[in-house]
Amino acid sequence: MRRYADVEAALADPRLVPPPAAAPGPTGGVAWLRATVARFSHGQTHDRRRALVVADLARLDPAALRRAAAGDPDTDPRRVAVRTLAQALGLADPDAVAEAIGVVAGAYFGDAADPAADRAVARLLPLMLPTGPTGHDGFDGGVAAGAPAPPGATEAARAAAEVAANRIGLLVQACDATATLVDHARRAAVGCPAATGVEALLAETLRHDPPVPALHRVATAATRVADANLAPGERVVLDVAAANRDPAVFADPDVFDPRRPGPASLTFGAAPRACPGTEHALAIAAGVLDRYLDAPATLVTGLVEQVLTRAGTWTAWDGRPRPAGDRVYTPHKAIRRVADHLVDHLAEIEARLAGQAPPPDHWHASMVTTPADLAPFTAHDLDEARSRLSRLALIWARRLDDLTAEQLDRSPGPGWSFRQLAFHLAGSVFYADAVGDLTPTDAAAPKG
Ligand code: HEM
Repeated sequence: MRRYADVEAALADPRLVPPPAAAPGPTGGVAWLRATVARFSHGQTHDRRRALVVADLARLDPAALRRAAAGDPDTDPRRVAVRTLAQALGLADPDAVAEAIGVVAGAYFGDAADPAADRAVARLLPLMLPTGPTGHDGFDGGVAAGAPAPPGATEAARAAAEVAANRIGLLVQACDATATLVDHARRAAVGCPAATGVEALLAETLRHDPPVPALHRVATAATRVADANLAPGERVVLDVAAANRDPAVFADPDVFDPRRPGPASLTFGAAPRACPGTEHALAIAAGVLDRYLDAPATLVTGLVEQVLTRAGTWTAWDGRPRPAGDRVYTPHKAIRRVADHLVDHLAEIEARLAGQAPPPDHWHASMVTTPADLAPFTAHDLDEARSRLSRLALIWARRLDDLTAEQLDRSPGPGWSFRQLAFHLAGSVFYADAVGDLTPTDAAAPKG
Protein backbone atom coordinates (compact mmCIF):
# COMPACT_ATOMS: atom_id res chain seq x y z
CA MET A 1 0.00 0.00 0.00
CA ARG A 2 1.64 3.19 -1.17
CA ARG A 3 -0.91 5.99 -1.29
CA TYR A 4 -1.13 8.39 1.67
CA ALA A 5 -4.90 8.02 2.02
CA ASP A 6 -4.69 4.20 1.91
CA VAL A 7 -1.89 3.96 4.46
CA GLU A 8 -3.70 6.44 6.70
CA ALA A 9 -6.92 4.38 6.47
CA ALA A 10 -5.08 1.12 7.15
CA LEU A 11 -3.39 2.60 10.23
CA ALA A 12 -6.77 3.68 11.58
CA ASP A 13 -8.42 0.28 10.98
CA PRO A 14 -8.61 -1.60 14.32
CA ARG A 15 -8.93 -4.90 12.43
CA LEU A 16 -5.40 -4.46 11.08
CA VAL A 17 -2.75 -5.09 13.73
CA PRO A 18 1.02 -5.63 13.69
CA PRO A 19 1.86 -9.32 13.14
CA PRO A 20 1.94 -10.74 16.66
CA ALA A 21 5.12 -12.09 18.20
CA ALA A 22 5.81 -15.82 17.92
CA ALA A 23 5.79 -18.13 20.98
CA PRO A 24 6.89 -16.26 24.12
CA GLY A 25 9.80 -18.47 25.29
CA PRO A 26 11.13 -18.34 28.83
CA THR A 27 10.90 -15.13 30.83
CA GLY A 28 13.94 -13.00 30.22
CA GLY A 29 14.65 -13.66 26.51
CA VAL A 30 13.93 -11.64 23.37
CA ALA A 31 11.02 -13.89 22.32
CA TRP A 32 9.43 -13.31 25.75
CA LEU A 33 10.08 -9.58 25.40
CA ARG A 34 8.37 -9.42 21.99
CA ALA A 35 5.42 -11.38 23.35
CA THR A 36 5.08 -9.01 26.34
CA VAL A 37 5.35 -5.51 24.81
CA ALA A 38 2.64 -3.21 23.46
CA ARG A 39 4.26 -3.06 20.04
CA PHE A 40 3.27 -6.61 19.03
CA SER A 41 0.00 -6.90 21.03
CA HIS A 42 -3.55 -6.02 20.16
CA GLY A 43 -6.96 -5.62 21.74
CA GLN A 44 -7.20 -5.08 25.48
CA THR A 45 -3.70 -6.44 26.05
CA HIS A 46 -2.37 -3.71 23.78
CA ASP A 47 -4.39 -1.05 25.62
CA ARG A 48 -3.05 -2.21 28.99
CA ARG A 49 0.58 -2.36 27.83
CA ARG A 50 0.42 0.88 25.90
CA ALA A 51 -0.89 2.57 29.06
CA LEU A 52 2.29 1.47 30.86
CA VAL A 53 4.47 3.11 28.20
CA VAL A 54 2.36 6.25 28.13
CA ALA A 55 2.61 6.54 31.93
CA ASP A 56 6.41 6.21 31.80
CA LEU A 57 6.69 8.78 29.02
CA ALA A 58 4.35 11.22 30.80
CA ARG A 59 6.98 11.48 33.56
CA LEU A 60 9.51 12.89 31.09
CA ASP A 61 9.84 16.52 30.04
CA PRO A 62 10.83 16.78 26.34
CA ALA A 63 12.62 20.10 26.88
CA ALA A 64 14.78 18.48 29.57
CA LEU A 65 15.46 15.52 27.26
CA ARG A 66 16.67 17.92 24.58
CA ARG A 67 19.04 19.65 26.98
CA ALA A 68 20.35 16.33 28.27
CA ALA A 69 20.93 14.96 24.76
CA ALA A 70 22.70 18.18 23.73
CA GLY A 71 24.99 17.87 26.74
CA ASP A 72 25.94 14.23 26.16
CA PRO A 73 29.42 14.10 24.58
CA ASP A 74 28.92 10.55 23.23
CA THR A 75 29.18 10.57 19.44
CA ASP A 76 26.84 7.60 18.96
CA PRO A 77 23.22 8.86 18.75
CA ARG A 78 21.87 5.37 19.57
CA ARG A 79 23.57 5.41 22.95
CA VAL A 80 22.66 9.07 23.50
CA ALA A 81 18.96 8.39 22.83
CA VAL A 82 18.79 5.43 25.21
CA ARG A 83 21.02 6.91 27.91
CA THR A 84 19.03 10.17 27.90
CA LEU A 85 15.74 8.30 28.39
CA ALA A 86 17.19 5.87 30.94
CA GLN A 87 18.57 8.74 32.99
CA ALA A 88 15.31 10.68 32.83
CA LEU A 89 13.37 7.56 33.87
CA GLY A 90 15.69 7.26 36.89
CA LEU A 91 16.93 3.80 35.90
CA ALA A 92 19.96 2.27 37.54
CA ASP A 93 23.14 2.35 35.41
CA PRO A 94 22.07 4.20 32.22
CA ASP A 95 25.38 3.30 30.50
CA ALA A 96 24.81 -0.43 30.97
CA VAL A 97 21.19 0.03 29.84
CA ALA A 98 22.33 1.82 26.65
CA GLU A 99 24.83 -0.91 25.85
CA ALA A 100 22.35 -3.76 26.36
CA ILE A 101 19.48 -2.04 24.54
CA GLY A 102 21.77 -1.67 21.51
CA VAL A 103 22.16 -5.45 21.45
CA VAL A 104 18.44 -6.15 21.91
CA ALA A 105 17.52 -3.64 19.19
CA GLY A 106 19.31 -5.77 16.60
CA ALA A 107 17.05 -8.74 17.34
CA TYR A 108 13.75 -7.10 18.32
CA PHE A 109 12.05 -6.97 14.92
CA GLY A 110 13.02 -10.45 13.76
CA ASP A 111 12.01 -13.90 14.92
CA ALA A 112 15.48 -15.43 14.75
CA ALA A 113 17.06 -16.84 17.91
CA ASP A 114 19.79 -14.55 19.23
CA PRO A 115 21.53 -15.75 22.40
CA ALA A 116 23.46 -12.47 22.82
CA ALA A 117 20.19 -10.51 22.75
CA ASP A 118 18.62 -13.00 25.20
CA ARG A 119 21.49 -12.38 27.60
CA ALA A 120 21.08 -8.62 27.14
CA VAL A 121 17.37 -8.82 28.05
CA ALA A 122 18.29 -10.82 31.17
CA ARG A 123 20.83 -8.13 32.13
CA LEU A 124 18.30 -5.39 31.50
CA LEU A 125 15.42 -6.71 33.57
CA PRO A 126 16.93 -5.95 36.99
CA LEU A 127 18.01 -2.52 35.72
CA MET A 128 14.47 -1.46 34.87
CA LEU A 129 13.67 -0.43 38.42
CA PRO A 130 13.78 3.33 38.93
CA THR A 131 16.29 4.35 41.59
CA GLY A 132 14.92 7.87 42.11
CA PRO A 133 12.10 9.15 44.26
CA THR A 134 9.59 8.23 41.54
CA GLY A 135 9.37 4.95 43.40
CA HIS A 136 8.92 1.29 42.74
CA ASP A 137 6.22 -0.50 40.84
CA GLY A 138 6.18 -3.77 42.71
CA PHE A 139 8.80 -5.17 40.37
CA ASP A 140 9.96 -8.60 41.47
CA GLY A 141 13.71 -9.24 41.50
CA GLY A 142 13.34 -12.99 40.90
CA VAL A 143 11.47 -12.54 37.65
CA ALA A 144 13.70 -9.58 36.86
CA ALA A 145 16.83 -11.67 37.11
CA GLY A 146 15.64 -13.64 34.10
CA ALA A 147 14.43 -16.80 35.79
CA PRO A 148 11.47 -18.42 34.02
CA ALA A 149 8.33 -17.41 35.90
CA PRO A 150 7.43 -20.41 38.08
CA PRO A 151 3.98 -21.92 37.50
CA GLY A 152 2.74 -20.46 40.79
CA ALA A 153 4.08 -16.98 40.07
CA THR A 154 1.82 -14.40 41.54
CA GLU A 155 -0.22 -12.05 39.42
CA ALA A 156 1.78 -9.19 40.96
CA ALA A 157 5.06 -10.71 39.75
CA ARG A 158 3.70 -11.15 36.23
CA ALA A 159 2.40 -7.58 36.23
CA ALA A 160 5.78 -6.31 37.40
CA ALA A 161 7.57 -8.25 34.65
CA GLU A 162 5.17 -6.70 32.13
CA VAL A 163 6.06 -3.22 33.39
CA ALA A 164 9.76 -4.03 33.01
CA ALA A 165 9.29 -5.53 29.54
CA ASN A 166 7.44 -2.47 28.30
CA ARG A 167 10.11 -0.19 29.73
CA ILE A 168 12.67 -2.17 27.74
CA GLY A 169 10.34 -2.02 24.73
CA LEU A 170 10.14 1.76 25.00
CA LEU A 171 13.93 2.05 25.03
CA VAL A 172 14.38 -0.40 22.16
CA GLN A 173 11.84 1.49 20.05
CA ALA A 174 13.72 4.72 20.77
CA CYS A 175 17.19 3.40 20.00
CA ASP A 176 17.57 2.84 16.27
CA ALA A 177 14.67 4.98 15.04
CA THR A 178 15.84 8.13 16.81
CA ALA A 179 19.47 7.57 15.82
CA THR A 180 18.46 7.00 12.20
CA LEU A 181 16.44 10.21 12.26
CA VAL A 182 19.53 12.08 13.50
CA ASP A 183 21.64 10.47 10.81
CA HIS A 184 19.20 11.32 8.02
CA ALA A 185 18.76 14.89 9.31
CA ARG A 186 22.52 15.35 9.51
CA ARG A 187 22.83 14.34 5.87
CA ALA A 188 19.90 16.54 4.84
CA ALA A 189 21.41 19.54 6.67
CA VAL A 190 24.23 19.66 4.11
CA GLY A 191 21.98 20.95 1.36
CA CYS A 192 19.85 23.25 3.55
CA PRO A 193 20.22 26.98 4.00
CA ALA A 194 22.13 27.79 7.21
CA ALA A 195 19.03 29.46 8.70
CA THR A 196 16.90 26.29 8.57
CA GLY A 197 15.60 25.61 12.07
CA VAL A 198 16.19 22.22 13.65
CA GLU A 199 12.44 21.54 14.00
CA ALA A 200 11.74 22.20 10.32
CA LEU A 201 14.76 20.12 9.32
CA LEU A 202 13.51 17.19 11.40
CA ALA A 203 9.92 17.41 10.15
CA GLU A 204 10.98 17.34 6.52
CA THR A 205 13.54 14.61 7.18
CA LEU A 206 10.78 12.47 8.72
CA ARG A 207 8.72 12.89 5.56
CA HIS A 208 11.45 12.65 2.95
CA ASP A 209 13.58 9.95 4.58
CA PRO A 210 11.63 8.14 7.30
CA PRO A 211 13.69 6.10 9.78
CA VAL A 212 10.96 3.44 9.78
CA PRO A 213 10.06 3.19 6.06
CA ALA A 214 7.34 0.50 6.26
CA LEU A 215 4.89 -1.00 8.75
CA HIS A 216 3.37 -4.46 8.66
CA ARG A 217 -0.21 -5.42 9.38
CA VAL A 218 -2.27 -8.59 9.56
CA ALA A 219 -6.08 -8.68 9.42
CA THR A 220 -7.73 -10.02 12.60
CA ALA A 221 -11.12 -9.97 10.80
CA ALA A 222 -12.31 -9.40 7.25
CA THR A 223 -11.83 -5.78 6.26
CA ARG A 224 -11.56 -3.55 3.22
CA VAL A 225 -8.79 -1.01 2.59
CA ALA A 226 -7.40 0.60 -0.53
CA ASP A 227 -10.18 -0.92 -2.64
CA ALA A 228 -9.08 -4.40 -1.59
CA ASN A 229 -10.84 -7.00 0.53
CA LEU A 230 -8.60 -8.59 3.12
CA ALA A 231 -9.48 -11.97 4.62
CA PRO A 232 -8.64 -12.77 8.26
CA GLY A 233 -4.95 -13.64 8.54
CA GLU A 234 -4.01 -11.79 5.35
CA ARG A 235 -0.94 -9.57 5.60
CA VAL A 236 -0.26 -6.19 4.12
CA VAL A 237 2.77 -3.87 4.00
CA LEU A 238 2.14 -0.16 4.57
CA ASP A 239 4.79 1.67 2.58
CA VAL A 240 5.16 4.79 4.71
CA ALA A 241 8.11 6.08 2.67
CA ALA A 242 6.02 5.98 -0.54
CA ALA A 243 2.95 7.49 1.18
CA ASN A 244 5.10 10.37 2.43
CA ARG A 245 5.94 11.15 -1.18
CA ASP A 246 2.43 10.78 -2.54
CA PRO A 247 2.10 13.57 -5.16
CA ALA A 248 -1.62 13.79 -4.39
CA VAL A 249 -0.68 15.17 -0.97
CA PHE A 250 2.81 16.70 -1.27
CA ALA A 251 3.74 18.99 -4.15
CA ASP A 252 7.13 18.11 -5.68
CA PRO A 253 7.36 15.23 -3.22
CA ASP A 254 10.96 14.30 -4.01
CA VAL A 255 12.23 17.79 -3.23
CA PHE A 256 13.57 18.24 0.30
CA ASP A 257 11.89 21.45 1.41
CA PRO A 258 11.94 22.22 5.14
CA ARG A 259 9.48 25.10 4.57
CA ARG A 260 6.77 22.95 3.02
CA PRO A 261 3.34 23.23 4.65
CA GLY A 262 1.50 20.22 6.17
CA PRO A 263 0.00 17.74 6.39
CA ALA A 264 2.24 15.76 8.72
CA SER A 265 4.00 12.74 7.35
CA LEU A 266 2.85 9.26 8.42
CA THR A 267 6.24 8.43 9.89
CA PHE A 268 5.05 8.23 13.49
CA GLY A 269 2.06 6.09 12.48
CA ALA A 270 -1.46 7.05 13.49
CA ALA A 271 -4.06 6.31 16.17
CA PRO A 272 -4.76 3.87 17.71
CA ARG A 273 -1.08 2.86 17.65
CA ALA A 274 0.66 6.15 16.85
CA CYS A 275 4.15 6.32 18.30
CA PRO A 276 3.72 7.45 21.91
CA GLY A 277 7.32 8.71 21.93
CA THR A 278 6.93 11.26 19.11
CA GLU A 279 7.68 14.33 21.21
CA HIS A 280 10.48 12.55 23.02
CA ALA A 281 12.08 11.38 19.78
CA LEU A 282 11.94 14.88 18.33
CA ALA A 283 13.39 16.39 21.50
CA ILE A 284 16.31 13.95 21.66
CA ALA A 285 17.07 14.26 17.95
CA ALA A 286 16.95 18.06 18.24
CA GLY A 287 19.31 17.90 21.22
CA VAL A 288 21.87 15.84 19.32
CA LEU A 289 21.63 18.20 16.35
CA ASP A 290 21.92 21.24 18.68
CA ARG A 291 25.21 19.83 19.83
CA TYR A 292 26.45 19.41 16.27
CA LEU A 293 25.38 22.96 15.45
CA ASP A 294 27.03 24.39 18.56
CA ALA A 295 30.20 22.39 18.11
CA PRO A 296 30.58 21.18 14.50
CA ALA A 297 33.97 19.72 15.42
CA THR A 298 32.06 16.90 17.13
CA LEU A 299 30.80 15.84 13.69
CA VAL A 300 34.35 15.18 12.55
CA THR A 301 35.63 13.62 15.77
CA GLY A 302 32.46 11.50 15.84
CA LEU A 303 33.02 10.42 12.25
CA VAL A 304 36.55 9.27 12.97
CA GLU A 305 35.46 7.49 16.12
CA GLN A 306 32.75 5.60 14.21
CA VAL A 307 35.13 4.68 11.37
CA LEU A 308 37.79 3.43 13.78
CA THR A 309 35.24 1.39 15.74
CA ARG A 310 34.32 -0.45 12.55
CA ALA A 311 37.97 -0.66 11.46
CA GLY A 312 38.73 -2.38 14.77
CA THR A 313 36.98 -5.48 13.34
CA TRP A 314 38.62 -5.43 9.91
CA THR A 315 41.64 -7.56 10.69
CA ALA A 316 39.11 -10.41 10.28
CA TRP A 317 38.44 -9.35 6.66
CA ASP A 318 38.19 -12.34 4.30
CA GLY A 319 39.68 -10.53 1.27
CA ARG A 320 36.35 -10.15 -0.58
CA PRO A 321 35.55 -6.54 -1.62
CA ARG A 322 32.13 -5.43 -0.40
CA PRO A 323 29.76 -3.89 -2.98
CA ALA A 324 27.91 -0.62 -2.26
CA GLY A 325 25.91 0.72 -5.20
CA ASP A 326 28.10 0.55 -8.30
CA ARG A 327 31.35 0.62 -6.26
CA VAL A 328 33.22 -1.86 -4.12
CA TYR A 329 34.99 -1.23 -0.82
CA THR A 330 37.72 -2.91 1.17
CA PRO A 331 39.19 -1.96 4.56
CA HIS A 332 42.20 -0.15 3.04
CA LYS A 333 40.00 1.60 0.51
CA ALA A 334 37.56 2.79 3.18
CA ILE A 335 40.40 4.25 5.25
CA ARG A 336 41.89 5.84 2.13
CA ARG A 337 38.57 7.43 1.18
CA VAL A 338 37.90 8.81 4.64
CA ALA A 339 41.44 10.22 4.91
CA ASP A 340 41.23 11.71 1.39
CA HIS A 341 37.92 13.32 2.20
CA LEU A 342 39.30 14.89 5.36
CA VAL A 343 42.42 16.16 3.56
CA ASP A 344 40.51 17.40 0.54
CA HIS A 345 38.02 19.55 2.45
CA LEU A 346 40.60 20.77 4.94
CA ALA A 347 42.67 22.05 2.03
CA GLU A 348 39.51 23.68 0.65
CA ILE A 349 38.81 25.48 3.94
CA GLU A 350 42.38 26.69 4.31
CA ALA A 351 42.44 27.97 0.72
CA ARG A 352 39.11 29.76 1.09
CA LEU A 353 40.15 31.37 4.37
CA ALA A 354 43.32 32.60 2.66
CA GLY A 355 41.25 34.05 -0.18
CA GLN A 356 42.56 31.52 -2.68
CA ALA A 357 40.82 29.11 -5.00
CA PRO A 358 40.67 25.59 -3.52
CA PRO A 359 43.23 23.24 -5.13
CA PRO A 360 41.70 21.24 -7.98
CA ASP A 361 40.53 17.78 -6.98
CA HIS A 362 42.57 15.01 -8.63
CA TRP A 363 41.51 12.12 -6.42
CA HIS A 364 40.59 8.92 -8.18
CA ALA A 365 38.17 8.51 -5.30
CA SER A 366 35.95 5.46 -5.19
CA MET A 367 35.83 4.67 -8.89
CA VAL A 368 39.16 2.84 -8.75
CA THR A 369 40.16 -0.03 -6.52
CA THR A 370 43.94 -0.22 -6.43
CA PRO A 371 46.06 -3.30 -5.66
CA ALA A 372 46.94 -1.58 -2.38
CA ASP A 373 43.22 -1.38 -1.54
CA LEU A 374 43.01 -5.16 -1.89
CA ALA A 375 45.86 -5.91 0.52
CA PRO A 376 45.07 -7.68 3.80
CA PHE A 377 44.26 -5.33 6.68
CA THR A 378 46.69 -6.22 9.44
CA ALA A 379 46.95 -5.14 13.06
CA HIS A 380 49.76 -2.77 11.95
CA ASP A 381 47.46 -1.23 9.34
CA LEU A 382 44.83 -0.72 12.01
CA ASP A 383 47.41 0.99 14.19
CA GLU A 384 48.43 3.27 11.32
CA ALA A 385 44.83 4.08 10.50
CA ARG A 386 44.17 5.00 14.13
CA SER A 387 47.15 7.34 14.20
CA ARG A 388 46.45 8.93 10.83
CA LEU A 389 42.73 9.49 11.23
CA SER A 390 42.94 10.60 14.87
CA ARG A 391 45.54 13.22 13.98
CA LEU A 392 43.43 14.45 11.06
CA ALA A 393 40.41 14.68 13.38
CA LEU A 394 42.48 16.68 15.85
CA ILE A 395 43.57 19.18 13.16
CA TRP A 396 39.96 19.46 11.96
CA ALA A 397 38.63 20.00 15.47
CA ARG A 398 41.19 22.75 16.15
CA ARG A 399 40.36 24.43 12.85
CA LEU A 400 36.58 24.32 13.32
CA ASP A 401 36.75 25.36 16.99
CA ASP A 402 38.76 28.43 15.97
CA LEU A 403 36.18 29.63 13.43
CA THR A 404 33.63 32.26 14.37
CA ALA A 405 29.89 31.67 13.80
CA GLU A 406 30.15 34.17 10.94
CA GLN A 407 32.93 32.15 9.28
CA LEU A 408 31.04 28.90 9.84
CA ASP A 409 27.80 30.08 8.25
CA ARG A 410 28.84 32.85 5.85
CA SER A 411 32.08 31.29 4.84
CA PRO A 412 34.39 32.97 2.32
CA GLY A 413 34.70 31.65 -1.21
CA PRO A 414 32.34 29.57 -3.30
CA GLY A 415 30.57 26.41 -2.17
CA TRP A 416 29.05 25.11 1.01
CA SER A 417 29.43 26.93 4.30
CA PHE A 418 32.10 25.44 6.56
CA ARG A 419 29.41 24.22 8.94
CA GLN A 420 27.74 22.43 6.02
CA LEU A 421 31.11 20.95 5.08
CA ALA A 422 31.40 19.48 8.58
CA PHE A 423 27.96 17.88 8.18
CA HIS A 424 29.00 16.64 4.74
CA LEU A 425 32.16 15.06 6.13
CA ALA A 426 30.20 13.19 8.76
CA GLY A 427 28.60 11.30 5.88
CA SER A 428 31.98 9.69 5.09
CA VAL A 429 31.08 7.00 7.59
CA PHE A 430 29.41 5.55 4.49
CA TYR A 431 32.78 4.13 3.37
CA ALA A 432 33.25 2.32 6.66
CA ASP A 433 29.63 1.16 6.65
CA ALA A 434 30.19 -0.31 3.19
CA VAL A 435 32.78 -2.65 4.70
CA GLY A 436 30.76 -3.02 7.89
CA ASP A 437 31.31 -4.71 11.23
CA LEU A 438 33.40 -7.83 10.55
CA THR A 439 33.33 -9.20 14.09
CA PRO A 440 33.27 -13.00 13.69
CA THR A 441 29.82 -14.05 14.97
CA ASP A 442 31.07 -16.81 17.28
CA ALA A 443 33.70 -14.44 18.72
CA ALA A 444 30.95 -12.01 19.70
CA ALA A 445 29.37 -14.48 22.10
CA PRO A 446 31.15 -15.13 25.39
CA LYS A 447 32.03 -18.81 25.68
CA GLY A 448 30.60 -21.15 28.30
C1 HEM B 1 12.28 8.97 14.99
C2 HEM B 1 12.02 8.15 15.95
C3 HEM B 1 10.80 7.28 16.00
C4 HEM B 1 9.97 6.85 15.00
C5 HEM B 1 10.04 7.20 13.53
C6 HEM B 1 8.96 6.02 15.59
C7 HEM B 1 7.92 5.45 14.92
C8 HEM B 1 6.98 4.62 15.47
C9 HEM B 1 5.86 4.03 14.78
C10 HEM B 1 5.54 4.22 13.32
C11 HEM B 1 5.18 3.28 15.66
C12 HEM B 1 3.88 2.50 15.40
C13 HEM B 1 4.15 1.16 14.85
C14 HEM B 1 2.89 0.54 14.28
O1 HEM B 1 1.87 1.22 14.13
O2 HEM B 1 2.96 -0.64 13.91
C15 HEM B 1 5.87 3.38 16.92
C16 HEM B 1 5.49 2.71 18.04
C17 HEM B 1 6.10 2.88 19.24
N1 HEM B 1 7.10 3.79 19.54
FE1 HEM B 1 8.06 4.98 18.27
N2 HEM B 1 9.20 5.94 16.93
C18 HEM B 1 10.31 6.71 17.22
C19 HEM B 1 10.87 6.95 18.43
C20 HEM B 1 10.34 6.48 19.60
C21 HEM B 1 10.79 6.86 20.93
C22 HEM B 1 11.87 7.91 21.23
C23 HEM B 1 10.06 6.14 21.80
C24 HEM B 1 10.10 6.15 23.30
C25 HEM B 1 10.62 7.13 24.01
C26 HEM B 1 9.16 5.30 21.05
C27 HEM B 1 8.29 4.38 21.59
C28 HEM B 1 7.39 3.66 20.88
C29 HEM B 1 6.55 2.60 21.45
C30 HEM B 1 6.55 2.13 22.90
C31 HEM B 1 5.74 2.13 20.42
C32 HEM B 1 4.68 1.02 20.51
C33 HEM B 1 3.33 1.68 20.73
C34 HEM B 1 2.14 0.76 20.56
O3 HEM B 1 2.26 -0.31 19.96
O4 HEM B 1 1.07 1.15 21.03
N3 HEM B 1 9.34 5.56 19.72
N4 HEM B 1 6.95 4.21 16.79
